Amino acid sequence: MSDAKKLFEPIKVGTLALKNRIIMSAMVTNFAAEDGSVTDRLIDYHVNIARGGCALNTTGSSYVSQEGKRILCGTGAHDDRLIPGYRRLTGAVHAAGGRISIQLSHGGRECSPKITGLQAIGATVAASRYEGVAQGIEIPREMTLEDIESLIAKFGDAAGRAREGGFDAVEIHAGHGYVITQFLSPHTNKRSDRYGGDIVGRSNFLIEIIRDVKKKAGADFPVLVKLNVCDYVEEGTVPDDARVTAALAEKAGADAIVASVGLHESRPQRIVPAMSLPPFPNIHLSATIKEAVTVPVAAIGRIVEPLGAARVLEEGKADLVALGRPLLCDPEWPRKAQEGKFEDIRQCIGCNQGCIDMLRRQKPITCLQNAEVGREREFRIERATKPKGVAVIGGGPGGLEAARVAALRGHRVTIYEKAGELGGQVRTGRIPPHRGELGKVTDHLLRQVEKLGVSISTGREMTPAKCRLLGADAVVVAVGALPLKPKIKGIDRKHVAYAVDVLQGKAAVGRRIVVVGAGLVGLETADFCIEKGAQVTILEMLGVMAADTGGANRVYFEDRLKEKRVAVHLDAVVTEIGERDVAYVQHGSAGKIADVDTVILATGAVPDDALWKALKEEGADVFPVGDCVKARNVLEAVFEGAKIAREI
Ligand SMILES: Cc1cc2nc3c(=O)[nH]c(=O)nc-3n(C[C@H](O)[C@H](O)[C@H](O)COP(=O)(O)O)c2cc1C
Ligand code: SF4
Repeated sequence: MSDAKKLFEPIKVGTLALKNRIIMSAMVTNFAAEDGSVTDRLIDYHVNIARGGCALNTTGSSYVSQEGKRILCGTGAHDDRLIPGYRRLTGAVHAAGGRISIQLSHGGRECSPKITGLQAIGATVAASRYEGVAQGIEIPREMTLEDIESLIAKFGDAAGRAREGGFDAVEIHAGHGYVITQFLSPHTNKRSDRYGGDIVGRSNFLIEIIRDVKKKAGADFPVLVKLNVCDYVEEGTVPDDARVTAALAEKAGADAIVASVGLHESRPQRIVPAMSLPPFPNIHLSATIKEAVTVPVAAIGRIVEPLGAARVLEEGKADLVALGRPLLCDPEWPRKAQEGKFEDIRQCIGCNQGCIDMLRRQKPITCLQNAEVGREREFRIERATKPKGVAVIGGGPGGLEAARVAALRGHRVTIYEKAGELGGQVRTGRIPPHRGELGKVTDHLLRQVEKLGVSISTGREMTPAKCRLLGADAVVVAVGALPLKPKIKGIDRKHVAYAVDVLQGKAAVGRRIVVVGAGLVGLETADFCIEKGAQVTILEMLGVMAADTGGANRVYFEDRLKEKRVAVHLDAVVTEIGERDVAYVQHGSAGKIADVDTVILATGAVPDDALWKALKEEGADVFPVGDCVKARNVLEAVFEGAKIAREI
C-alpha cells in the first residue's frame, strides 16, 4: 500500500465517477490536424496517459469557433464534422480504462489573424502584450452584445458535440487570459454594460456559458471550470474575485473548479511555471476556492511528486490534483504512485524546453526527458531479437538514456565515463541559480540504469584502441562537446576562462567580469557570478540574447538581468582582450569596457567527434549521440539516445 493512498480514493465530479483523484491538466499538443480534427498521434498520446492510471484525461484547449483558434494544430470544437474523430479518441481512452473531457476555449485577444485569418475579438479594445505564440497579435475588436450572445451559444454547441462524441465531461477554459478571462479580469475588462463593472458583472459571460453548456449537453453532463484564481498582474483578478466567480459558477451548474493562475504577461511566468518557481506554487489558491464552493476543487501547477500531492488532499487544500507536464514527463506517474514506486517517477523539472517552448514556436510538443511524447507508436520499446553487448562511451544524459533503452530491450550494456562521476553537461548545467532541478534528469537516469543492471565504469577515458579491446557488438558514443575558443586577440591571457571551468570552480574569477556570449551558458554563468556578488557586463555578437533557448529561459534572464542591472551589449563583436579591458565593435563604433578582472568565454562549443569518427573509419558498429555530433542541449541528447538505442 502506498503512502500516497489519499490520491487513490474515488471521487465524483457531478455524475462522473473517477477512480482516483489524479486528473490531467489541459495541454495543447499540436498533434491534431490543421482543421482541428483528431489524429492517430493524438489518440496514441491520450491512450498512453490513460494507461498510466490518470482518472480523467483532458484535451488541450479546443476552439469553439475559428476566430478563437490559437495553435495551428490544436483540436477544434467548432464543427460537427469533428464528431467521428472524437468518437475514435474517446473510445480508445475508454478502452484503456480512462475517462476524457474536452477543454472548450476561445483565445479572444490572444489570437492572431496569422492563424485564424480573422480579426481577434476581446472584452475590450486592449491588445495582448504577449507575442510568443504567434508574432503579430493585433488590437482586438471589442465584442458587441451580439458577439457575446453568439459566442455563448458556440460554447454550448461545442459541449453538445462533445457529448455526442463520447466525452465524459467538458472543461470550460476561464483562465490564462483567453476570452472568458478577458471578461473576468479587471485588467482587460473595461466595459460598462452588464458584462463589465464589478465581479458579478464580469462573471456574467462565464455564467451564461455554463448555463448554455448545461442546456445543450444536458443538466447531468459534467462541467469543470478552469478558473484563474489570481492573474498576477496589476489590476488583475485576485482571490477575492475568484471566490465570488467560483460560487456563482457552482450555482450555475459547474461540477468542479480547476484552480489555475496567471496571464501571459505575468512575471515571473505563472501559467506554466518554470523551475525558478519551486514545486507546488499554487496550493494556497485551490485552498481559498475550497472555502467558497462545495463541488470538488483541483489544485494545479508543478505537482511533481505524489507524496506532496497526497498531502495537499489530506490537508483539505484540494480534492483533486491536475497534472500537466508531470504526465508528459512520466505518463505512468499515477500507477507508480499507487504502487509506491516513488523514486521511479521521472519528475518534471520545469525546464519548459520540450513542451511549452515548442508550442510557442508552433511545433508539436515533446518532453526534454521523455522523447516518447508524440512518438508513442514509433518509440514503443521492443525486445531485441538478438541481445548484443553494447558499450556506451560517455555518461551524460544522451549516453544514459541510450543505456537505459538498450538495457530495457535486453542488451548487455556498459557505460564508460571519463570523469569520476556520471552526468555529463548536466553536472555543470545544474550549478547556476535556479537550475538545480536539471540534476534530476541524470539522477533519475542513473537510478534506472543501475536497476536495469547496466555496468558503470567511471574515470576511464576511451580511445579507439581501448574501444576495440572491449569487443562490444555496438558502441554508442556520447562524449559531448568541447568549449569553442574564438579567434580573438588576447584570448590566451591568464584572466580569460571558459564558462564551464568557472561553474565547476576550476577557474577563479574577480569582481568585475565580462561574459562573452549571451546564449544559455553565458547567461547562466553571468547569473552565477552575480549571485556571488560580481559586477557583470555581457557582450553578445547577435542581436538577441538567449537565441539558443526557449521563451521560458529568456523571460527569466530578461527579468533577472534587469533586476540586477547587468549591462548587456547586443550586436557587439569582441575585437581584443587587453590586460584590464575588453574592446568591441558595435554597429560600426568601437567600445571598451575598462577595469576588467576576468573575461569568461561562453562562445559556444564544438563537437568532440574524434572518437566516433575514428571508430567509424575502422568499420565499427558505432552510434554517435548528442553534442559529439553537433553541439546542442539536453533535449536533443536525450532524444538521440532514445532513438539510437531502439535501432541497435
Ligand atoms: C505544452 C503545454 C500546453 C498547454 N496548453 C494548455 C491548454 O490548452 N489549456 C490550459 O488550460 N492550459 C494549458 N497549459 C497549462 C497547463 O494546463 C497547466 O495549467 C500548467 O502547465 C501548470 O501545470 P503543470 O505544472 O502540471 O504543467 C499548457 C501547458 C503546457 C506545458
Ligand atoms: S520538457 Fe521539461 S518542463 Fe516540459 S514536461 Fe518535460 S521536463 Fe517538464
